[in-house]
Amino acid sequence: MLTNIIKLFFFSLSFFIFISPISPQFLPPNYGHQGEWTLLHESTGIVAMHMQLLHNNKVVIYDRTDFGRSNLSLPGGLCRYDSGEQALTYDCTAHSILYDTTNNGFRPLMVQTDVWCSSGSVIPNGTLVQTGGFNDGDHVVRTFSPCLDHENCDWLEFPEYLLRRRWYGTNHILPDGSIIIVGGRREYSYEFYPRNPQAPFLLRFLIETTDYAENNLYPFVHLLPDGNLFLFANTRSILLDYKQNRVVREFPEITGGDPRNYPSTGSSVLLPLDENNNGSNVEAEIMVCGGAPKDSYGRALRQDFVRAVSSCGRLKVSHVNPNWEMEPMPTPRVMSDMLILPTGDVIIVNGGESGTAGWNNARDPVTRPIIYRPSVHESSLRFSVMSPAFRPRLYHSSAILLPDGRVLIGGSNPQIYYNFTNVLYPTDLSLEAFSPPYLSVEYTALRPRIMHVDQTVRHRQSFRVKFIVLNFLSGNVVSVRIIAPSFTTHSFAMNQRMVVMNKLGVSRVGPAVYNVDVVAPSTAEIAPPGYYLLFLVHAEIPSPGVWLKIE
Ligand SMILES: *[C@@H]1O[C@H](CO)[C@@H](O)[C@H](O)[C@H]1NC(C)=O
Ligand SMILES: *[C@@H]1O[C@H](CO)[C@@H](O)[C@H](O)[C@H]1NC(C)=O
Ligand SMILES: *[C@@H]1O[C@H](CO)[C@@H](O)[C@H](O)[C@H]1NC(C)=O
Ligand SMILES: *[C@@H]1O[C@H](CO)[C@@H](O)[C@H](O)[C@H]1NC(C)=O
Repeated sequence: MLTNIIKLFFFSLSFFIFISPISPQFLPPNYGHQGEWTLLHESTGIVAMHMQLLHNNKVVIYDRTDFGRSNLSLPGGLCRYDSGEQALTYDCTAHSILYDTTNNGFRPLMVQTDVWCSSGSVIPNGTLVQTGGFNDGDHVVRTFSPCLDHENCDWLEFPEYLLRRRWYGTNHILPDGSIIIVGGRREYSYEFYPRNPQAPFLLRFLIETTDYAENNLYPFVHLLPDGNLFLFANTRSILLDYKQNRVVREFPEITGGDPRNYPSTGSSVLLPLDENNNGSNVEAEIMVCGGAPKDSYGRALRQDFVRAVSSCGRLKVSHVNPNWEMEPMPTPRVMSDMLILPTGDVIIVNGGESGTAGWNNARDPVTRPIIYRPSVHESSLRFSVMSPAFRPRLYHSSAILLPDGRVLIGGSNPQIYYNFTNVLYPTDLSLEAFSPPYLSVEYTALRPRIMHVDQTVRHRQSFRVKFIVLNFLSGNVVSVRIIAPSFTTHSFAMNQRMVVMNKLGVSRVGPAVYNVDVVAPSTAEIAPPGYYLLFLVHAEIPSPGVWLKIE
């Protein structure tokens, strides 16, 4: 106890000395570590602009094809010829890779048409469906199916699949396993994969929220337990019944009136849905953080880099008359990613303190992630500041959660080409991993490991998770949750959601070995079918994740 107090004292002291600009109310929590960074690769050859984890523990990463030569050659002397290409018509370099989280290796993949600023979702059978892009790629759908027994799987392209150009659109997986594709630059509509012959459906909300800077691109889209979609664009948000093309309700404008979408890029999450709280009527709450004031984009073009937005807002969208509850972050942030960690906390990482998204439009990179603990009652204790990354991560950076609980981070490319010199923030081809404090070795005795769980469950099915933990604490300290791995780009983690499953009970079955019985999510609106990472959390320390398929 005493040594802990002494440690805490020195820890707090060092905190004040080294990062004094952050106000003391944002001191890290007492159990205090600030996490650890690892540089996984100095260069993968491409920019991690878009990332998706698949259920074979590999990550599809891609940047864009109209970008000049990357630092990675295509395999076997392969080249890409494209007469409509804007940078190089003949390009023998890769613009996509498959990164293996189990051995830190990667290999080049082949994309034919331009995937820049596109969107994606994983369908229930585990295949990534990527939609749109720029130029010759803006109507293309591409699929990537994980290869399970060989190592040569690659992208398949379906030209002219999309009805409209989808560039800066947002996707979301739906309860029936199809995908909705919302918006895109000057496309005020939505459509579906597989293709719905009645689409595209006009969405006036996207016209109404367009301003001079188009601060409504990559709208934030979240599927709610009632089956409607929550859509946030610029400063406004609605509940959309996409089946009837009907706006069910409009929520109050976010307090402060600052835009939160590209290029005033903030981010948003659906906070964990907890089925222990009111069964299938679970409460749904949205959180939006960061962004840039209204005139920031225009001013950035004139080399005037306005301080980014430093507030987060929470909105209980399942309530009758919800209002935004605002709280300050330790620093302003634009272009930060928001990811749900296995603990249900939210990490906010990457981005800058001033300017906006877009070419050379941001300054003052924020390299320290912050972790937000939504369930902590005392608001001043919700944020903790983590240790700094190796690299600044501005425009075109991204982050995703890995199965072992680390966060994979890469990208940053604030100018048009792969420029590494003569620029303020060079194109960054590296990959880093952040290990949140819960991965610290000091929690080894508290860390559970899953020994057995079914690979497939149906909605509402009860099932058992067998686990081992050296130092089991009694009391209500075990919970089981699933996370849908996100498609992340431009600071938004599409399809991301966590469901904390209804817990029936815990029993001891042997030395350090226990069973916990839980009920799979009640509905496909709460958890659309597909592959999830299941984590068991004991005393706020998560197990490594295991894959669970919900049918
Ligand atoms: C990429 O390749 C260029 C040209 O070969 C080289 O100058 C540069 O250092 C490489 N950059 C990285 C990050 O690998
Ligand atoms: C999943 O569906 C996609 C698209 O229909 C198909 O190309 C792929 O082969 C399927 N994968 C599996 C494992 O069934
Ligand atoms: C639980 O759900 C019911 C039905 O929607 C609702 O009337 C009630 O207010 C909810 N209770 C809580 C605590 O959210
Ligand atoms: C960036 O790279 C492009 C293409 O190689 C080149 O035309 C441009 O001059 C470079 N910019 C700088 C600032 O070096």
